[in-house]
Amino acid sequence: MTNRLTITRPDDWHLHLRDGAMLAAVLPESARHFARALVMPNLVPPVVTGADARAYRERILAALPEGTGFTPLMTLYLTETTDPGDVAAAAAEELIAAVKLYPAGATTNSDSGVRDFDRVRGVLERMAEIGLPLCVHGEVTDEDVDIFDREAVFIERVLEPLRRATPGLRVVMEHVTTREGIEYVRSAPRDLAATLTTHHLVINRNHILAGGIRPHYYCLPVAKRESHRLALCEAATSGDPRFFLGTDSAPHADARKLAPCGCAGCFTAPDTMAILAHVFEEEGALDRLEGFTSRHGAAFYGLPENSERITLEKGEPVPAGGMLETGEGPVTIFDPGFPLAWRVVE
Ligand code: DOR
Ligand code: ZN
Repeated sequence: MTNRLTITRPDDWHLHLRDGAMLAAVLPESARHFARALVMPNLVPPVVTGADARAYRERILAALPEGTGFTPLMTLYLTETTDPGDVAAAAAEELIAAVKLYPAGATTNSDSGVRDFDRVRGVLERMAEIGLPLCVHGEVTDEDVDIFDREAVFIERVLEPLRRATPGLRVVMEHVTTREGIEYVRSAPRDLAATLTTHHLVINRNHILAGGIRPHYYCLPVAKRESHRLALCEAATSGDPRFFLGTDSAPHADARKLAPCGCAGCFTAPDTMAILAHVFEEEGALDRLEGFTSRHGAAFYGLPENSERITLEKGEPVPAGGMLETGEGPVTIFDPGFPLAWRVVE
């Protein structure tokens, strides 16, 4: 039985760091274990230009605890008025690693997202030319589409036509939650990958709704039925390099989660590596954890693997979850529903 595991320091390919007091509180939780993270641009107002990304990166670096070697990889929020030249310039100076597409209204702070995809054609074509990945929140927002079907319908109505219209565009389907999403990624010959979150590997929709409503498990895309979770686990632990970790750790103060219209998001950053070690061990795939957390994403983004390593150890199980105090109020840490036997020790 393995009780100790040393792997390349991981990267988080989808992270919400927020800003101000929340940034200051949550950033150390990611910087402790992760070397790099792809930072989501859905601030209020969003990060839309190269200048916005530069300023946000400065704020993140200023909030880093002394001596932390954490690198934020920035993204731009795609709008219908995004300037292809600005995107290309930001990519050329390695200020940004990707552009993020939110269909308008899909999730937290996505009001400035894309309604008419013809209006972003020029940007997408330029991105295909320069090899800059498009990270996609893959859900349609049409009122007539059931929330549990929004990912599958997005693939058919939006993603497949968009990829056909823009050959060579490199796309990451973010936080895939369905068997259809996994199958779609597997069916693509190239230029397509997917991130999987920590929480979607652990919860299904019963965790949110059965026996009382549990707002801390509510996120977007919403967790689906168990058969989908099993498909996600199978993909994550398969060793297929098209699947890698993007936690989508998304902190909201409890007052905003525990409300009549509560915010979507699970704050998973603090215990993600411990939870993933548990999941991979259950699947008999501990030897594939490193690929998922530390190698596949770097390869897709054309970046070197981290030279540092981290060590996890299995010991006496301790309760998961808890609370992080922030300047915006307490934030509940994601509880996977099992105690944590694994921990990062160095
Ligand atoms: O659950 C989510 N929370 N999903 C998203 O797409 C956005 C995120 C957030 O920013 O809170
Ligand atoms: Zn997200």
